[in-house]
Amino acid sequence: MSSIDQAGTYQLGNREVRRLGYGAMQLAGPGVFGPPKDPEAARAVLREAIALGVNHIDTSDFYGPHVTNQLIREALHPYPDTLTIVTKIGARRDPQGAWLVADSAAELTQAVHDNLRNLGLDVLDVVNFRSMLDVHGPAEGSLEAPLTVLAELKERGLIRHVGLSNVTMTQVEQARRILPIACVQNMYNLAHRADDAMIDALARDGIPYVPFFPLGGFSPLQSDALSQVAEELGATRMQVAAAWLLQRSPNILLIPGTSSVAHLRENLAAAELRLPAEALARLNGL
Ligand SMILES: NC(=O)c1ccc[n+]([C@@H]2O[C@H](COP(=O)([O-])OP(=O)(O)OC[C@H]3O[C@@H](n4cnc5c(N)ncnc54)[C@H](OP(=O)(O)O)[C@@H]3O)[C@@H](O)[C@H]2O)c1
Repeated sequence: MSSIDQAGTYQLGNREVRRLGYGAMQLAGPGVFGPPKDPEAARAVLREAIALGVNHIDTSDFYGPHVTNQLIREALHPYPDTLTIVTKIGARRDPQGAWLVADSAAELTQAVHDNLRNLGLDVLDVVNFRSMLDVHGPAEGSLEAPLTVLAELKERGLIRHVGLSNVTMTQVEQARRILPIACVQNMYNLAHRADDAMIDALARDGIPYVPFFPLGGFSPLQSDALSQVAEELGATRMQVAAAWLLQRSPNILLIPGTSSVAHLRENLAAAELRLPAEALARLNGL
C-alpha cells in the first residue's frame, strides 16, 4: 500500500479518487499571474504528485491565466486513465491580474473551450462553477442562469460533471434542483470552519466537499496548539492541518497546493498521520 492510500478514497464524479489530491494554483507566477520563475520545477511537482499516487488535480484556466493548465498538459499529457482533473470557471483576469466575474453564457462557453484546449482534453471531467457574487466568500443570489449554461455544455458532452465553488447551502440546494452536483469547493481549514453544517449535510448525500486553502492559503496556518500537536506527534504543522481535515469527515477531499516537491511529499505523507482523540479535541477547540 502506498502512503497516500492510507487516507482512503471517495467518489468524485464517475471515479473513486484518493482523498489526498493536489491543487495546482501555486504553480503559476506570483499572485497566480503569469508564468512561474522555473517552469521545469513546476512540471516536476506535477510529475511527483502522480508518482506518489495522486489521482485528483484541481486547476483553472484563470490561474496564470492559462499557465497552470498548460503546465499540467506539458507535464502529464497523455494523462493516466485514473486521473481526474477538476477545473473551475466563472471568473477571468484583467491585464493587471485582478479577478473579475465571467459568468455570461458566452464567457462560460469560452472558458470551457479554453480549458479543453489548454489541458489537451476532449471532455472535462469536473467543472466547478465559481460564484463571483462576492469574490471573497459565499454570497446569496441565484446561480440559475450560469448553471443552466453548464447543464447545456454537459448535455453537449463537453463536461462530465458539474460542481460548485464559493457557495452557500441554499445555493447548493437550488443547484441540485437544476442538475446533479458532483462536489462543492469552499474555503475551509482548521481556523476557518464556517461550513461545518454544509460538510455534514453533503456527507449524508455522498457529495465530496473539497476545501480550498486547506493549509491556510497564502498565509499558511499558525497556532500554538497546532505547533504543539505537531511536535508531540513528530509531524509538521501542515501535516497536522491536513490530517485534521482528513479526520473531520470522510467526504473531505484534500487539494493542498504547493510549488515545491519537498512540500508536496510532506503534505502527502499526512495520509499516514492519525491524530489521537485528545489532540483532535485540542485542535477542535482552536
Ligand atoms: N475555488 C476557489 O475559489 C479556490 C481559491 C483558492 C484555491 N483554490 C484551489 O485550492 C487549492 C489549494 O489552495 P492553496 O494552494 O491556495 O492553499 P493551501 O493549500 O492552503 O496552501 C498553499 C500555501 O501553503 C504553502 N505550503 C504548502 N505546503 C507547505 C508545507 N508543507 N510547508 C510550508 N508551506 C507549505 C504553499 O507554499 P509553497 O509553494 O512554498 O509550498 C502555499 O503558499 C489551490 O491549489 C487551488 O487549486 C480554489
